[in-house]
Amino acid sequence: MKFDSTTSAVVTGGASGLGRATAEALAANGVKVAIFDINDELGGEVAKAIGGLFVHVDITDEQSVLGGYAQARAAHGQERICVHCAMTSRRGKTLAYDKESGSFRRTRPRTMPMASRASSPRATASARSRPRAWQRCPRWRMASAA
Ligand SMILES: NC(=O)c1ccc[n+]([C@@H]2O[C@H](COP(=O)([O-])OP(=O)(O)OC[C@H]3O[C@@H](n4cnc5c(N)ncnc54)[C@H](O)[C@@H]3O)[C@@H](O)[C@H]2O)c1
Repeated sequence: MKFDSTTSAVVTGGASGLGRATAEALAANGVKVAIFDINDELGGEVAKAIGGLFVHVDITDEQSVLGGYAQARAAHGQERICVHCAMTSRRGKTLAYDKESGSFRRTRPRTMPMASRASSPRATASARSRPRAWQRCPRWRMASAA
């Protein structure tokens, strides 16, 4: 795929984290980037730094999303790339940047609540007796043992 100034992209959650890194990487390759985010301050800063467009868009609100695309297309033309990084879950990060060590660290993923637990005692018992997903992961076991 061609990445240059004839290509437009929309990056949701582009004010921070994965979205920001994606927006920066695309812009570094000449792509016209529109950031959709609810964080006006950071979103505006990032958009300014990369020569892109910031649009206040709440991805959980359809009208807001449609309005965002209208603004992005008016400014940059039809997007050919859409990268969705906006965080809508409260589950937290599995990997986080540690400023002190200057490296990424694995954060302990919380277990997924299952709807079936509330409705089925059998499913609850079965889920309790099985190791959690993160306990089965060899890399996590190694990190825990260290
Ligand atoms: N960082 C990780 O380790 C990791 C791992 C797996 C999955 N993810 C997923 O990747 C996504 C981004 O993670 P991140 O670490 O970059 O998070 P982050 O918190 O750094 O960035 C999320 C961005 O989404 C924006 N946002 C939140 N709600 C929004 C909404 N309703 N509309 C528009 N924008 C909204 C926030 O303002 C923020 O700028 C999340 O969905 C996360 O669950 C992250």
